[in-house]
This record gives sequence, C-alpha cells and structure tokens, in this order.
Amino acid sequence: MSRNILVLPGDGIGPEITREAVKILDACRQDGLDVTVEEALVGGAAYDTHGEPLPEVTLAAAKSADAILLGAVGGPKWDKIEDLSKRPEKGLLGLRKHLGLFGNLRPAVLYPQLAEASSLKPEVVSGLDIMIVRELTGGIYFGQPRGIEKRGGERVGFNTYVYSESEIERIGRVAFEMAQKRGRRLCSVDKANVLEVTILWREVMDRLAPEYPDVELSHMYVDNAAMQLVRAPKQFDVIVTGNMFGDILSDAAAMLTGSIGMLPSASLNESGQGMYEPCHGSAPDIAGKNMANPLATILSVAMMLRYSLDESELASRIERAVGRVLDDGLRTADIAYAGTRQVSTQEMGDAVLDAFHHV
Ligand code: IPM
Ligand code: MG
Repeated sequence: MSRNILVLPGDGIGPEITREAVKILDACRQDGLDVTVEEALVGGAAYDTHGEPLPEVTLAAAKSADAILLGAVGGPKWDKIEDLSKRPEKGLLGLRKHLGLFGNLRPAVLYPQLAEASSLKPEVVSGLDIMIVRELTGGIYFGQPRGIEKRGGERVGFNTYVYSESEIERIGRVAFEMAQKRGRRLCSVDKANVLEVTILWREVMDRLAPEYPDVELSHMYVDNAAMQLVRAPKQFDVIVTGNMFGDILSDAAAMLTGSIGMLPSASLNESGQGMYEPCHGSAPDIAGKNMANPLATILSVAMMLRYSLDESELASRIERAVGRVLDDGLRTADIAYAGTRQVSTQEMGDAVLDAFHHV
C-alpha cells in the first residue's frame, strides 16, 4: 500500500534544506519505496498566503499523512505580528498538538569525522551518542492560563507549568523503552527542588522504574544537567525531560556534535505517525544563500524511514551516505574547518545523493 508523505518546507532556510532531503526521498522511490509526496504551507509562508500559520488545508493534509517532513518556521518578518496565535511558531506548535505528537526523539550523535568541529575537546565528545526524549505537547508550552494582562496598573505576563500523571507516564514509557534498546541508562531531568510539577514528574518516573528492571534510572536537576552536558556528556545514554527543559538541553547537546545543523528529530504520537524535522530553526540570516547545512533534514528522512515507514535498511543507507560524504571532507560552512572542502547546500545534497547510490 502506498504511503503518503507531507512535506512542509516552512520559512527561512526551510525550503532549501527540504529540497535536498526530498531529492534523497525521490532516490528511495526510484529504488522501490512506495510513497507519494505532497507539499503544503506552514508558518510564515502560510500566514502570508492564508493569514494563518496552520491553515485548515495543511492541517487536514497533515492528519491524513503517514509521515510529515518539516523544514523550519519563523523569522524576523513575522516577529511583529501582535496576535501570538498567528505567529509562525504557532503553526509548528499547532501541528504537534493537533496530531498528538507527544514523544520527541532528539539524538545527539557525533560523527567521528566532526570531532574537530565541536566546541569541546575531541576527547570529551568522541563517541558521543545521546538520545534526548522530550515531552512535546504539554508542560509550560501549552499550560493554561497564559497571557499578558493588566493587573493593578501594570502588565503582567504569565504561563502555567502543568503535567498530569498520565502525560508523564506515557513519555516515561517511551524513554524507558528507548533505553532498553540502547545503553539501558535513563536520566530523568527535572527541577524537583523547586517546582511541584516536577516533583510529580520524578515520582511517576520512580513508579515506572520497577517495570523496566533492566534500565538504570537516575534523576538530575536541569541546571546540573546543563552543566554535565558540557562537562562530561558521555555519561548520558537516554535523557527524558519536559517540553521546555528538552528544548533548551537539546540545543546544547546539538552543539556538542559540531553543529546544530547535523541533528535530526522525530516527533511521534500514540499510533506511530510522525513528524520529522531538523532540530535547528529557520536561520533567517543565511536564508536563500545556499549555505545552510541540509544534513539534519536528510537525516530526518532517515528517521522517518526507520520510525514511521518501517524501512530501516533504507534509513541506514542514508546514514552511511552522510558518513561517506563527511569522510570525503565535504563540509557546509557551519562544520567547515581547515583542510576540509566547503560546499553549498545544494552541493552537499547532491553529494549525499551520489553517495546514496554507491553505499
Ligand atoms: C524546537 C524549536 C521550537 C520549540 C520553536 C520553533 C517553537 O525551538 O523545535 O526546538 O521551541 O519547540
Ligand atoms: Mg528549540
């Protein structure tokens, strides 16, 4: 049965990087992958055309897709939209919420060829392989009440950090199961010394632990986790945390690998439907310059093949192709250093495509 993939290029560098990823997807189709590929607007691009960052047509197409590939959303052009619900970011957050994509997997893997590109010493990061499991549809990102309002003559801004036991439990299970498939160590990150919501988080993780006796569970406060990530990142195997802490820690983890331009992600719902996107943003400063790194998006296609389309063989082939291109010394600007060959977005995509046919 043919499966249906929705591509949402979005804003900024989104269109350039998804274009390269779609080339690889097309190559997979030529090799027999039975999928149809459709495109739709999201974020600022959708706002400009439809007046909404997540138009009905896009949401409907997303709901009926087997998997979604998203570039990036947002940019200074839309930062002045006063109605927050019309900002590009709401397109992305709306997709996550409407599709129930609560389980966000953000692997931070250091390609050995990029050890020199990391801002940390090669010995601190070599062999790094962390999986951050971030809760994606709850926590302070979505809690009610929220807003900015006048109180006693001045404006106050407020948000609500809330998690129910069932929300914590389902992301906890994703993380424990992920740890079972990897190094069997799970570190739950919270702020249980200050915030009640994360006291409950910790309790639920502890309650689940006996069901996964092969996994060693530990807990860490988020401030310490941020420090440990840059001090000794290899102590981590799987990290599980809430929406906002996961947002912040995954950017830090990404940088350990040389560039945030290398990191893919998967966001899954209860039925295995997934949205795949690079962890980085829309990088408006380099948009349209053909210099962005398309590898995170290409590697997101690999995650899509593995987690939503049950095509792990093709997924590994894409990952090997990326390795081959890095071996050959090709680098986009973000990961280039002396002795490597700097290439454009398009050249990088073409090189991966070429390698894909030969690995
Ligand atoms: C991410 C991004 C998003 C987030 C933004 C663009 C809304 O930073 O996917 O990490 O905060 O989740
Ligand atoms: Mg982020």
